Amino acid sequence: MQKNANTKIRLAILRGVNQSCIILLISAIESSMISKFTIQKIMDEARVEDIVGEFVNLKKRGSNLLGLCPFHNEKTPSFNVNPARNIYKCFGCGKAGDPVRFLMDYQQLSYPDALKYIAKKYNIEVEEEYRSDEEKQKEAEAFSLTESIHIANAYAQKFYSDYMLNTESGRIGLAYLKERGFIQATIDKFQLGFSPEGGDVLTKQALKDGFQLDVLKKAGITSPKENSTYDFFRNRVMFPIHNMTGKVVGFGGRIMIKDEKAPKYVNTSESEVYQKSKILYGAYFAKNEIRKKDECLMVEGYTDVISLYQAGIENVVASSGTALTVDQIRLIKRITPNITMLYDGDAAGVKAALRGTDLILEEGMNVRIVVLPSPEDPDSYVKKVGAEGFGAFIKNNRKDLISFKASIFADEAKSDPIKKAQLIRDIIDSIAKVPDAIQRSVYVKECAQLFDMNEQILITETNKVRRKKQNEAASEERKQQQIEVREDQLPESVHQENLQPPAISGLNLVERDVIRILLEFGNWEIDAEGTPISVTAYVLEELDGIDMEHPLFKKVLDDIRRQFANGQVNDDQYFISHHEPDIASLAIDILSQPYSLSENWTAKHKIIIPDKKSVFVKDILSAVLRFKQFRNIAELKKVEQLLREIKDEAEITRLMKLHILLTEQKKEFAKSAGNVIYRPTT
Ligand code: CTP
Ligand code: MN
Repeated sequence: MQKNANTKIRLAILRGVNQSCIILLISAIESSMISKFTIQKIMDEARVEDIVGEFVNLKKRGSNLLGLCPFHNEKTPSFNVNPARNIYKCFGCGKAGDPVRFLMDYQQLSYPDALKYIAKKYNIEVEEEYRSDEEKQKEAEAFSLTESIHIANAYAQKFYSDYMLNTESGRIGLAYLKERGFIQATIDKFQLGFSPEGGDVLTKQALKDGFQLDVLKKAGITSPKENSTYDFFRNRVMFPIHNMTGKVVGFGGRIMIKDEKAPKYVNTSESEVYQKSKILYGAYFAKNEIRKKDECLMVEGYTDVISLYQAGIENVVASSGTALTVDQIRLIKRITPNITMLYDGDAAGVKAALRGTDLILEEGMNVRIVVLPSPEDPDSYVKKVGAEGFGAFIKNNRKDLISFKASIFADEAKSDPIKKAQLIRDIIDSIAKVPDAIQRSVYVKECAQLFDMNEQILITETNKVRRKKQNEAASEERKQQQIEVREDQLPESVHQENLQPPAISGLNLVERDVIRILLEFGNWEIDAEGTPISVTAYVLEELDGIDMEHPLFKKVLDDIRRQFANGQVNDDQYFISHHEPDIASLAIDILSQPYSLSENWTAKHKIIIPDKKSVFVKDILSAVLRFKQFRNIAELKKVEQLLREIKDEAEITRLMKLHILLTEQKKEFAKSAGNVIYRPTT
């Protein structure tokens, strides 16, 4: 029901009818959104390590988990997942958030879609509730072109499937697939379909259902030619291509008859949502099994993936007949370091096998290669020998890159010393690309044995190649750095090391520390002369209405004060998932810091602190004190400045009195701070 309403409204928007029409339509159809109750439940259930762990391989590191950041390219992991706080943060590039934010950022899901994704994962029933016209319109406006294309692709997928199952001519496609041995469950799972022959059957229907021609063209469903309403895919068996979250982003269409003039496959052209180099066919269906088996099988074709999957070998993806790209390799790298490539036994297959393998080595991953007996491909071979026979063949025949290269060129090289030298060079080039030294030396040993060569010579040669490459890379990097690195872009940890007890930014630092206290300990209790009160209550009382200078800190403090006035004291999760994105990201930033500010400073002053809990009272007191101290100094300066400028006698008297008061306060603060942590130098 709800789904229907959503589809209708989306279609209305795609149709591009004028704004008032949309609003009318929205108010007629769409009147609900995910309920607050459901959102809360989703937030409670969602585990950051589960959600992130679906896409990133995480290793335990203390109480946290660590992995390679999916948002930037890195060799050593700096992507931190903190299960206790339910947040992640990359200390390399700074990306951070909660489970919902991760799905929004990494998978480009909208907020409601991210929530629904989590709900589905944890079997949470999504309850919808009424929303105002204003809210509805906001959502309508938020539909981006990307989302429109996603909707169009989902529509087309359903159309092709329905067409294959429910029409006379479509059933030819079904018969073809059945004939090839695909069972209905497999056809359903991979959402296979058939595109009509007619010319513009799909496009016409889609236009009738409210899609804009422009969107259909951008999705690649309709021919891109101007004014044309011609279907892009005609009379072909349709293989939808899914991204990592299972959204259809494109199609491959296979011709059913052998035709020398027509290509066997037609594929969606590159679009807003479909970039071939970043997609691996089947990855959405395979990712869990890849993680479980800690290995990814790589094949060439759509039908290879589907056949293996049907046979029960599910950790398989396809490069779709082109050379592997770095982006594709990195999709896998986040789940497993082990890739096994399966190739046809013909010469073309072997050549194809060699493309991309060096890239895998460079990424520090392990690549193994299996060549199937000619003329089989994985699809035909698994049908012939079954899953067990297939598995056994892989196990017995996989070779690492070195022995693979050695074996295919061995015959030529044996009788020809020049060819042999070339082959060894080639292998050394590959070995030099392996980032791990131990792995490299294993390969060198293997190569020495295979060619009966002196190992030391091979080591020397490999190192030469590496040095040359490093020099090139270093000069390239220097160039890059000069352009890119600006101080304010340095990761947090770098900033921290350079923290000078404050000069210009001093006030901001102490303000930040008070905010940290409120976020981190706000709902803890502190003993105030015998009665326990919340830290928030204590701090707010101490601040006595003083505002913060930094606008973002002021915004957070205002929020806390508002909540407190309503009898509400929140925990860290409230701030981490705050509806104001700038508050949320500040909270994540502050709360994911490995060491809090005052601990750093205490460390500098050689005060050793055993653990956070035992000092947290002191931490709070000193943070508040420092803040007040800084405000005091700032005000004193302001008064002194005014005293120099102002001529009015009465005003001067008032300022003098204020000055005396502030100076007294300053002494007081200094006295209390003297034995604590940090004494300002001003
Ligand atoms: N391919 C392509 N365009 C072509 C031929 C191939 O895009 N004209 C891509 C497809 O992604 C295809 C893969 O390359 O799946 C491998 O090609 P091939 O082995 O010829 O196709 P199969 O997937 O094995 O298809 P089939 O078994 O139906 O022949
Ligand atoms: Mn095939």
